[in-house]
Amino acid sequence: MMLFEALKHLHMGCAFLSIAGFILRGYWMLTSSPLLRRRPAKVLPHLIDTLLLASAVGMLLIWQLSPLQSDWLIAKILALLAYIGFGMVALRFGKSMKTRVNAWLLALLAAAYIVSVAYSKSPWGFLQGLFS
Ligand code: HEM
Repeated sequence: MMLFEALKHLHMGCAFLSIAGFILRGYWMLTSSPLLRRRPAKVLPHLIDTLLLASAVGMLLIWQLSPLQSDWLIAKILALLAYIGFGMVALRFGKSMKTRVNAWLLALLAAAYIVSVAYSKSPWGFLQGLFS
């Protein structure tokens, strides 16, 4: 299905940009760079993440599937909430550098888990190999 493939490529492209952008903003946070407060650093992530989610919804509409019907999609959504939450502490609400760095690392761990779930289509993701 052509439209599905297009949505999936859009989704994967936005997933890459979302994580790459988060790593870059984390670097700017670590180096106290003023770039973090510039307009593109605030607007672009929202644009990218909106497209990321919209393409996911589009794929599910084509599949006629509710995300709650699939265990790996539920895992993705929960881990997405962790990625967002830790990300907000890392780039905005963390009071000390230590808190922000730890939250940044946890957000990256959540992102790595999401990608591993995406490819394995299993809620275990990269944890799979640890137990089998
Ligand atoms: C940061 C968040 C996310 C990242 C990094 C991400 C990443 C990815 C990647 C890399 C793929 C391609 C996997 C493959 O080639 O088979 C994918 C596929 C997919 N993702 Fe996401 N995703 C995210 C969030 C979500 C969310 C929230 C949903 C839905 C609730 C979702 C639904 C899907 C679906 C339906 C596919 C297609 C799977 C297939 O083709 O069989 N994703 N995602």
